[in-house]
Amino acid sequence: MRAGVLTMENVMRVSACSSWQAGDGAGSKVSELERGKVIYLPHLAFGLSDKEITLLDVKRVEPKRKNISYNPQNGRLTGVAWAADRPAIEALLARHYHACKTLVAALLPEYQRFLHSPVNTLRLHPVTVWRKSNSWRKDDSRLHVDAFPSRPVCGERILRIFTNINPQGNSREWRIGEDFPRLAQRFYPELGGYSKFTSWLQNLLGITKSQRSHYDALMLQMHDKMKRDERYQQLGLQLSFQFPAGSSWICFSDQTPHAAMAGQFMLEQTWLLPVQGMQRPEYSPLKVLEALAGKTLL
Ligand code: SIN
Ligand code: FE
Repeated sequence: MRAGVLTMENVMRVSACSSWQAGDGAGSKVSELERGKVIYLPHLAFGLSDKEITLLDVKRVEPKRKNISYNPQNGRLTGVAWAADRPAIEALLARHYHACKTLVAALLPEYQRFLHSPVNTLRLHPVTVWRKSNSWRKDDSRLHVDAFPSRPVCGERILRIFTNINPQGNSREWRIGEDFPRLAQRFYPELGGYSKFTSWLQNLLGITKSQRSHYDALMLQMHDKMKRDERYQQLGLQLSFQFPAGSSWICFSDQTPHAAMAGQFMLEQTWLLPVQGMQRPEYSPLKVLEALAGKTLL
């Protein structure tokens, strides 16, 4: 039996955008993004200076950390191995954040006033090496939708902008899966219950930063069920795609199943978006799961 195949048209919308400021002159991409498509920007590179290129070295991320991350609102920079690198890495991530903000203004203007909690990351590890040294739960080469174990989102959307900055010209290879309603129908019957008391206790013990809602508990279970299901991993509907060096892509990573198969060196920007900020809230994982559950999940 072969894996069910999706086409590029099923999972992507290609944009000619080649500037972080100017968009592509073809209007907002919100409606396709909300349907779970990856907005693929083959010509949108993030230029690095020669000095910045020297930062692309796995030794510069703290051992055992997956990424270097930056919160542009409070200046918190984590995961840098050597203190001497901090100013240059902070400057790079701050510049990247501002570029992503202008990209949102150009391609997703409806979201500007709703996006919050920005964090961006510099990803230095080769995907393959990171994968070998981790448990199945942390293995992002298995198809999954994103759900944060310690940071409940209570239905809010996880918007991510990725840019392949590999200086040797290597692609980042992803597998992209089926649309969320189909995915949810597949996995919802396997998901277990929710205990408000357990969520309260996990918060009290500092396991989570706030109390997990029923929605968060279901999304975490779905993340785990997807990653553990060998049959789904191998035979589920999917498309393999190579994002070349010098390209960018945008998706709701809580909605679009994805798996990173190969590549090294990437910049990534995350924001949260309240469901009320969407043009079509009914496409959100929250509303899809609530329809299956027949009740509110918050
Ligand atoms: C992920 O979000 O699962 C990883 C994506 C990547 O590093 O390419
Ligand atoms: Fe992910």
